[in-house]
Amino acid sequence: MPAEVSHPLFARLAAFIAAREGPVEEDRRRDTLAGLSGRVIEIGSGSGPNFRHYPDPVRELVAVEPEAHLRARAAEAARDSGRPIRVVDAVADRLPFEDGAFDAAVAVLVLCSAPSQPAALAELHRVVRPGGELRFYEHVVGTSTRLALLQRVVAPGLAKVFGGCRADRDTGRAIEAAGFKIERCRRFLIRSINEAPAAPRILGAARRV
Ligand SMILES: C[S@@+](CC[C@H](N)C(=O)[O-])C[C@H]1O[C@@H](n2cnc3c(N)ncnc32)[C@H](O)[C@@H]1O
Repeated sequence: MPAEVSHPLFARLAAFIAAREGPVEEDRRRDTLAGLSGRVIEIGSGSGPNFRHYPDPVRELVAVEPEAHLRARAAEAARDSGRPIRVVDAVADRLPFEDGAFDAAVAVLVLCSAPSQPAALAELHRVVRPGGELRFYEHVVGTSTRLALLQRVVAPGLAKVFGGCRADRDTGRAIEAAGFKIERCRRFLIRSINEAPAAPRILGAARRV
């Protein structure tokens, strides 16, 4: 597959940041993945900071990562984890898997970056079996008018610097529009960058209807 996602500088920054996360962020990753089992797909895995947090009942993880530098880091993380993780070069909006091939899907800080969020979610809906789950931890548009306005203003500029990442997406709504039913969702602000464009987060689980 041709390299459709190439952000060499952003990729190095993302890997650098992921390698230095503290316990609070690690807890959020663990929360996102807790209770998963069976065959799981993770889109936009980056350098693989989630890998070590998957629970043991996950018998196979397919990690999709289209950016070459991050994919190489993810392959190393997969090897180091000693777990059944396969790293694949593909994009979220065109997943090379059969309908209903997975028990669950995971999206962490990636639905902000997929060029077409509806297309990526439609693909996740297709490859997760009916009754399966989508686990998500994403930064989203804020609920305060002031913050949402700021996000809309700065989003195009930030996207150029941060690998296409849009700060102004209503990802919770998009998840439901794609045919998932959100069963639990925690909304919070990252306090250290409060009022900054990526501060509002959602973390939760949705059922594939
Ligand atoms: C901010 S990083 C997050 C990486 C990782 N999920 C994490 O939690 O650290 C965004 C990721 O989305 C990936 N990405 C961008 N466009 C994508 C697409 N169309 N399909 C799948 N992944 C994509 C990037 O390569 C990058 O790995």
